[in-house]
Amino acid sequence: LVLILDYGSQYTHLITRRIRSLSVFSLCISGTSPLKAITELNPCVVILSGGPHSVHTPDSPSFPEGFAEWAESNGVFVLGVCYGLQLIVQRLGGEVRVGEKQEYGRMEIEVGKNHGIFGNKSVGDRQVVWMSHGDEVARLPEGFEIVGRSQQGAVAAVQSLDRRFYGLQYHPEVTHSPEGMETLQHFLFDICGISAGWKMEDVMEEEIKVIKGTVGPEDHVICALSGGVDSTVAATLVYKAIGDRLHCVFVDNGLLRFKERERVMETFEKDLHLPVTCVDATEQFLSKLKGVEDPEIKRKIIGKEFICIFDTFAHELEQKLGRKPTYLVQGTLYPDVIESCPPPGTGRTHSHTIKSHHNVGGLPKDMKLKLIEPLKLLFKDEVRQLGRILNVPQGFLKRHPFPGPGLAVRVLGDVTKNNALDILRQVDEIFIQSIRDAGLYDEIWQAFAVFLPVRSVGVQGDQRTHSHVVALRAVTSQDGMTADWYYFEHKFLDDVARKICNSVRGVNRVVQDITSKPPSTIEWE
Ligand code: XMP
Repeated sequence: LVLILDYGSQYTHLITRRIRSLSVFSLCISGTSPLKAITELNPCVVILSGGPHSVHTPDSPSFPEGFAEWAESNGVFVLGVCYGLQLIVQRLGGEVRVGEKQEYGRMEIEVGKNHGIFGNKSVGDRQVVWMSHGDEVARLPEGFEIVGRSQQGAVAAVQSLDRRFYGLQYHPEVTHSPEGMETLQHFLFDICGISAGWKMEDVMEEEIKVIKGTVGPEDHVICALSGGVDSTVAATLVYKAIGDRLHCVFVDNGLLRFKERERVMETFEKDLHLPVTCVDATEQFLSKLKGVEDPEIKRKIIGKEFICIFDTFAHELEQKLGRKPTYLVQGTLYPDVIESCPPPGTGRTHSHTIKSHHNVGGLPKDMKLKLIEPLKLLFKDEVRQLGRILNVPQGFLKRHPFPGPGLAVRVLGDVTKNNALDILRQVDEIFIQSIRDAGLYDEIWQAFAVFLPVRSVGVQGDQRTHSHVVALRAVTSQDGMTADWYYFEHKFLDDVARKICNSVRGVNRVVQDITSKPPSTIEWE
């Protein structure tokens, strides 16, 4: 195991992912975890991440007392990256000072003599790296040497071969350090002697073993399927472990896309053989949403109704089985777990946790279900990989994200007026199908149509019309936190707009949303 201690850098997850991409299992925990939490994991390598702090700030986060001694006496290799390097230097008796010149962005470094970390690079070789630091190393701890300097003369790489401590002032994990991966690879395989062997197949087998060991032979497990990748992969994995003692529910809240219920149910039943109950709650949701215009109130109503249905499902199941279900499956991912215990002082919030949970709107309070979260150590792309092994169809795994409140946040204002949901479904289907036909679906993070609560004047077949306006939105993004609008060719937009106006009754105008996030959000409500 390669353990990453997180000191709040925006790149910490990236280190974890990069190492996993080398088929080496890595985990990330808070950099201020107690020594016991670190030693219990029994890592052979520990990487101290970067972070926004200065070691001189009072209460800046650091590794626990006894960590360095434990690492040295157990032959554990330690690599400090940026702030991590400065922590090593300061805590082991060296000195870090405020740099005369700060180094941010692209820099050149020069490889020094005796280096272990730069592989077969020769003394004097230069490489471009990504720096981001204000403080710099002024004096080394005993037994350390400098093995790389920046073009400005600052210490860029240090090592203590005897003590097995290494440090890089730059970020090898980012693509702006083109040779960074090579350096990490050399560090892990050649210096630390780690062998690559972590495979998604093993993760699957291990998870199945854990689920079998956790869920007793009489226990029953429930799961709410949203139609998204995470809950589907989580349920499929649990089903593989315990079979028909898993009971899934999929709710049609009347806010789904064109033929979505039929499409996802077909995947659940035909491809994955999941035991799913489909609840048609269209009336229940739409009657509660009638007349509601405020987006946040819409979200609350939807969340509450969902809990209600889930509660009924669980109680009916209890009557059928003669016992309460014991466990609930959730598709929580690793970033949610990391974000829920950020290192102090990093200003990181619990926003991810809140977001992932509002998909299902929370849990019925009196059910006292224990959680099974089989994806909680995986990143999104790893979940897709696992899904592939579990035979979840590729097309399903690549679906664009869809918000929990569904089309309710894409019909502006009252969703029950003007036949809006029906119109939106037709427009959205034409748009998405055209994107698929043009081979653009996988390039785009999310694409959808929005129903606007305005009418505009048009002329169709010599008749004056006063009909609806729809907006098209397509964005590229890495994680949904920031986004840019997607540049379609004019011909494509022309075809789509024509098709929409010619085939969707009630629409006479199509506009495109060309704002990025920020200042806009991806959804309109
Ligand atoms: P925004 O609109 O905040 O969206 O830029 C970022 C990402 O989150 C999705 N989203 C939601 N997902 N419940 C969800 O499950 C919601 O209430 C919700 N609101 C936005 C959105 O589709 C995008 O992928």
